[in-house]
Amino acid sequence: MKLLPSRKKKAEADGSENGEVEAVAKPTRGERAAQAKQLATHHGTQSGIDVAGWVDSRTNATGIFTAMMSRHVPKGTNWFYTLGSATMFIFAMQAITGVFLSMYYTPSATQAYASITHLTNEVFMGEFVRGLHKWGASLMIILIFLHMARTFFFGAYKYPRELNWVIGVVLLILTTVMGLTGYLLPFDQRSFWATIVANNITASGPVVGPYLADFLRAGPDFSATTLSRFYALHMMVVPGLIGALIGAHLFFVVKLGTTAPPWVRAGRPKGSRPTEAVAAGVAVEDLDEVAVNGAVTVADAEPPAEAEVDAAEAEEVEAKPAEETEAETAAPEPAEEAAEEASSEEDGEVNS
Ligand code: HEM
Repeated sequence: MKLLPSRKKKAEADGSENGEVEAVAKPTRGERAAQAKQLATHHGTQSGIDVAGWVDSRTNATGIFTAMMSRHVPKGTNWFYTLGSATMFIFAMQAITGVFLSMYYTPSATQAYASITHLTNEVFMGEFVRGLHKWGASLMIILIFLHMARTFFFGAYKYPRELNWVIGVVLLILTTVMGLTGYLLPFDQRSFWATIVANNITASGPVVGPYLADFLRAGPDFSATTLSRFYALHMMVVPGLIGALIGAHLFFVVKLGTTAPPWVRAGRPKGSRPTEAVAAGVAVEDLDEVAVNGAVTVADAEPPAEAEVDAAEAEEVEAKPAEETEAETAAPEPAEEAAEEASSEEDGEVNS
């Protein structure tokens, strides 16, 4: 191979035989393009990771997500526990379909009905989206009642979850208000007269009934202003309140944990007595918190296998000096036993 004088000089300086220049050969245009592409991809990926990391370090999004999604759930958790999430899913679906419906709906007494018929008959997928919203409203009410029944029959309304039950009751009321205010919006004969009946029933309620009916009617007569009021309540006020209260409801679910099914707690399984819990590896200082929060109650924790506990006890005995072991194996003082019994009772109340 014939070399350029400058290359030849360099090759001689490198000590390569016959002026071989493979080590210093210039990359071809194709190789350079491939290298550039690889670099660009590498930088792109790097910057993507950096943005995610940057946002995460400022928001702790991963921590919050992990706390929400990787929670301990009690043993015996079953399909009934999905009813709350199913209700939340329907609420999200109502919000999304509602946004699309609002793009075509006109909240005016003279045009509301026409805008709804236009949406149903002429807009692409309009009838489908309207159907989802209409059936979703009924489904949400059914799911809320089923979810409420689950929490009632599983005793989840008791201490320390009473506040979450109260929030739930407000959510139930607000969901029915969504149904009432949404029903008027098509402004056809049926919705018009049905809402007048509902308003008269509201007015017959004790103490606040007449005031509430006046507020909803937005004037002495049922008119165009009533439609505007129902529209504002249905589109903004009530969904906003429901969204905020679902946030609070979930906060308490995460903070307090879910209640174990009654049949799991009924038998005080092995490992639920403080002494057994300590043998099972629960730190003494954690016992109170565990009992109150109920997030991972000792009773809910996987009870250790009989053999494991025996082995742990045997190891403990071996490791302790003789006099300590003797003192422990002696019969407990009656007062001590009574105190332990009382604390067990308390735990039971707290967790149920
Ligand atoms: C918009 C309506 C509602 C939504 C989206 C909702 C959502 C949820 C979710 C996702 C959970 C956790 C999972 C579960 O236990 O199912 C939950 C738990 C709970 N909900 Fe609701 N809920 C609603 C209405 C209600 C109502 C009407 C009540 C009762 C009056 C209620 C009372 C409770 C209670 C007490 C818990 C704790 C359950 C436990 O500790 O085992 N919720 N809710």
